[in-house]
Amino acid sequence: MKALIVFAHPGDDSFNHGILRRVTAACERQAMDWRLRNLYQINFQPVYSSEDMRRIEAKQVSPDVEEEQILVTESDLLVMIFPVWWWAPPAILKGWIDRVFTNGFAFHYKEKGPVGLLRGKQAVLFTTTRESVQEMKTAGYDQLITRQIAQGVLSFAGFDPVIHKNFAAVPYVTAAERSRMLQEVDDTMSSLRLPLTV
Ligand SMILES: Cc1cc2nc3c(=O)[nH]c(=O)nc-3n(C[C@H](O)[C@H](O)[C@H](O)COP(=O)(O)O)c2cc1C
Repeated sequence: MKALIVFAHPGDDSFNHGILRRVTAACERQAMDWRLRNLYQINFQPVYSSEDMRRIEAKQVSPDVEEEQILVTESDLLVMIFPVWWWAPPAILKGWIDRVFTNGFAFHYKEKGPVGLLRGKQAVLFTTTRESVQEMKTAGYDQLITRQIAQGVLSFAGFDPVIHKNFAAVPYVTAAERSRMLQEVDDTMSSLRLPLTV
């Protein structure tokens, strides 16, 4: 299995980095061929520009977008790891989606509606929040990332299955709870099935 890991955290030793270490260790254990796109480290340019728009209209993409699209095409598994910021991914990852998942690459429109073009691939999202599960439920925010990114982006583009695990209240939980969360990362990675054929 080929895995593409897309990581969006600006720090250098956060809980998200702990998740990343467990994901890469799991990829090694499972003998996956994996690539990491650490978006802050590669200084990914996340703004969908007027140049991008002109290129899309001409059915082309910028070289940096093409590089990412090749990595997505070559992978069977996409793993995204990010903290939730304002109930959304960090802007650098939102911009990666805006620029990379273009019409004609990630989906296209047929008479009956949109069709995902990234079929035969699976995706896993690991996210973290400051708020607890109960706080998110009370405010009606608990399904926002699942709806926006897992379903609205990845299922829409054809990924199946799409697994989303959010680790809540990470700044406040005990060390034991953090280790349980990291164990859940391992369990999720080892539950992945072999690549589908399209
Ligand atoms: C710009 C910004 C916006 C944030 N917005 C939210 C939010 O909407 N909901 C939430 O629960 N936490 C929010 N947080 C807190 C982060 O999600 C939390 O600090 C992070 O998940 C902890 O993981 P880390 O230790 O790996 O950084 C925000 C943090 C920042 C910096």
